[in-house]
This record gives sequence, structure tokens and C-alpha cells, in this order.
Amino acid sequence: MADKKAQLIVEGHGTIDLPVYSGTVGPDVVDVRGLTPEGLFTYDPGFVSTAACESKITYIDGDKGILLHRGYPIDQLANQSDYLETCFLLLYGELPDKKEKEKFSNTIRNHTMLHEQLSHFFNGFRRDAHPMAVMCGVVGALSAFYHDSLDIGNERHREVAAYRLIAKMPTIAAMVYKYSIGQPFMAPRNELSYAGNFLQMMFATPCEEYQVNPILEKAMDRIFLLHADHEQNASTSTVRLAGSSGANPFACLAAGIAALWGPAHGGANEAVLNMLEEIGDEDKIDEFVARAKDKDDPFRLMGFGHRVYKNFDPRAKVMKQTCDEVLGELGVDDPLLRIATRLEQIALEDPYFVERKLYPNVDFYSGIILKAIGIPTEMFTVIFATGRTPGWIAHWHEMISGPYRIGRPRQLYTGHTQRDYVPLDKR
Ligand code: SDX
Repeated sequence: MADKKAQLIVEGHGTIDLPVYSGTVGPDVVDVRGLTPEGLFTYDPGFVSTAACESKITYIDGDKGILLHRGYPIDQLANQSDYLETCFLLLYGELPDKKEKEKFSNTIRNHTMLHEQLSHFFNGFRRDAHPMAVMCGVVGALSAFYHDSLDIGNERHREVAAYRLIAKMPTIAAMVYKYSIGQPFMAPRNELSYAGNFLQMMFATPCEEYQVNPILEKAMDRIFLLHADHEQNASTSTVRLAGSSGANPFACLAAGIAALWGPAHGGANEAVLNMLEEIGDEDKIDEFVARAKDKDDPFRLMGFGHRVYKNFDPRAKVMKQTCDEVLGELGVDDPLLRIATRLEQIALEDPYFVERKLYPNVDFYSGIILKAIGIPTEMFTVIFATGRTPGWIAHWHEMISGPYRIGRPRQLYTGHTQRDYVPLDKR
């Protein structure tokens, strides 16, 4: 129910009264649906000022650098919770009690295997295909295998699809990696934790026993957790838009994976590592910072800036802390970390970045941890997609569980007005 009003005075259209709604926290929203009958659209390329939906899942205050999942701050979840518990929180809205947590973890563990025929699906790809191309294809193909959970109007089907996706994404991600290096796929092991099982599927071979390193296991769980959800970002909005047509959840997530791939979004973590390696030495940092500021140079400081955060991305803070912990515990002295730390210092003191409120985002340090874990750079966005699965599913489920309409934006048309066809011999 509107609790405030707005009045829009438009030349040639008079005064239009619009309702204004307030959330529990965050900016009020002006309901502009009353503009269409008046022959008007809003105009907001990139959706900078558009609230596309109502949601209860995640709240971001970009000015204060706040990120809450169902009200819980990300740093508290990262330091006190774990990834599967955060998945439960995103899906059901509350932290699980002991019994619920055990049941959820066991359910996920018992869905980690893939239909055997899906493993043949990989053979259609070149070994050197980008891992995101393979993941996008295989996740979309899940809708060709799991027909018993495609009725999106059925709550139980939606829940089963959610479990399957959360459970199978690490298995698919590990298979994508194994296929790229020509090693056999490793089956999931139910006695391991979610992160431990992922590491086992990634790095174990049939030739010898594999011991999960607890430091890497904790870091992997933390990385998945920090990527779990992030409000209406480009890939989540893609999942919602695909879901609004009634497409099945597997197809919707394949669309989300495709959107995440771009270097401006989830592909940034891979781009950060490539950038740090290109910089190569602390002496070259100034040259790259100058390039990032040069309007004529397409180069941007990858891992810096954010559409919403105009302060530190709270995930980047936790990621940096994790980076220091993991590299310290592993005794890894990665020169890229020194370059990243120095680059951050320089950028945060440079007026260009200060004026534009450009801070490190979630992708700036994640790649250094992933590299320390032994994950190759081109797999970084696959890790991001795996971590983001519960967020995509929670938003899809939230939309489908209530009244929704197909998403269909309009446009400002500046093309030709109607004109008659010109026969070929008259052109
Ligand atoms: C993610 O939305 C989410 O929540 C995403 C995400 C999630 O969890 O889902 O948080 C994950 O995608 C994080 C962002 C990862 N991307 C990168 O690190 C790529 C580098 N960053 C930029 O490309 C950029 O900052 C974006 C894409 C993240 C945000 O772009 P916006 O909001 O459209 O901002 P903009 O491009 O209009 O930039 C505003 C100004 C411009 O300068 P002016 O025209 O005002 O002179 O800042 C400049 C830009 O040129 N700028 C940068 C810059 N980012 C913005 N200049 C140099 N280096 C950068 N990284």
C-alpha cells in the first residue's frame, strides 16, 4: 500500500499523481506504472535508478558498504556461518536449527551425483573450450535430464530443482576442470563437506588417496559463501527475466551463467588475475593506473568500482582478510598479492578513483586465493557461478512463488518513422 505520493508535471501531459512505497530499509520507490496510460515511459539505460521487483532476500547499502542476507551482515556470516547454512538462509529466510541444518546438508549431499549420460555430454566440447562455455551448456542440458522437477507451479518441484542445482553445480564445475586437463572425472564423496568434496572432485585422481587440506577447505567454503547472493545484479536479473517467461530453473540458471561470464561482472575475477600478471611488477603500477584513468584507453582497473558500492565492498574486506590468512597458513609468498595491495593503496589515494568512489570489489582479491588453492584462472568465473547458485535460485523461487508478470521493458525509439518499401530497381 502506498504510504507517500509523488506528483510528476510533464509538459503536454499535465500533472500525474504516482504512489510512493517505502521498504523496511533503503530508498523509497516511485511506482511509475501510472505513466503508461498517460503515454509516457521512464528512461533508465543500465537500470541505474530502477527497482525491478520487491524482494526480502538481500539488502545492500552502497554508500555505507553494507550487505545483509535476510538481515544478517555478510562479515558475521563469513566468520560464523558456513556456505550450506547460508544457502538454507537465502532459500528459507531463517537460519536453520540443528535438525534442519543436518537434514538440509544430507539432502544436498545425496543429490551431488549427475546422470551418467551427462558425462558423455562433455565430449562434444573441445578440451580448450573456455570453462564457462562448457558450464553454460551442461547446466542448460540439465533440463533435458530432470523432467520430474520442471513443473514450476509445483512447490515441491521447485524445491527439488533448488536442491539439485546447489548439489550438482560443484560436481559440474569439477567435471569442467577435469575435462579441460584430460583427467578422469572424480565421483562426489558423501563423507566430505561441501567444499571438501569440491576440492576432492577437482584435484583427486584415481591413482592415489586424496587428503583434503583443512585450510583450503575453509577458504573454499568462505569463497562460495561470499559469492552466494548480491541482490538484483546483472546475472540475477537475467535469471528473474528468464524465469518470468515460465522457463524451467535449469534454463534460467544457464542464462544467469551466460550473463555472469562478462568481464564487467563475474568475469572480472579472471580479468583481475590477468591484469595483475600483465602489470607483473610494482614499478609498473603507475603506468596501469594512468591507463585506467585515460578516457581514450579502454583499460579499466579490474576488480575496482561497482554500480552500487560507493564505499568498500564488504565482501572485498573479508576476502582480503581470507587472502592474508590462507597465504600465511600455506606459507605462500605470491608477488601478485604485493602488487594487488600496492595497487589498492595507490588507487585509493588517487583523486580519479576517490572522486568516482571506486573501491576494490569482491573480485579484486578472490583470484589470489583461488590461485593459492590451485584453481587455474580460467576457472575463476566457474567458481563464482557455483557460489552464486543459491542466490539465483532464491530469487527465482521468490518470484515464482508469488504473483509475477513476464518482464518486458519498453524503449525510447529514435529510428525511422513509417516509410514505403522501395523496389530494388529504384534504389
Ligand atoms: C561484480 O552488480 C553486482 O552486484 C555485481 C557483483 C555481484 O556480486 O553480483 O558485485 C559482482 O560484477 C563486481 C564488479 C566486477 N567488475 C569489475 O571489477 C570490472 C571493473 N569495474 C567496472 O567496469 C565498473 O566499475 C562496473 C561495471 C563494475 C560498474 O560500472 P558502472 O556502474 O556502469 O559505472 P561506470 O562504468 O559508469 O563508471 C563510472 C565512472 C566512469 O568514469 P566517468 O565516465 O565518470 O569519467 O567510473 C569510471 C568510469 O570510466 N570507472 C572506472 C572503473 N570503474 C568505473 N575507471 C577505471 N577503472 C575502473 N574499474
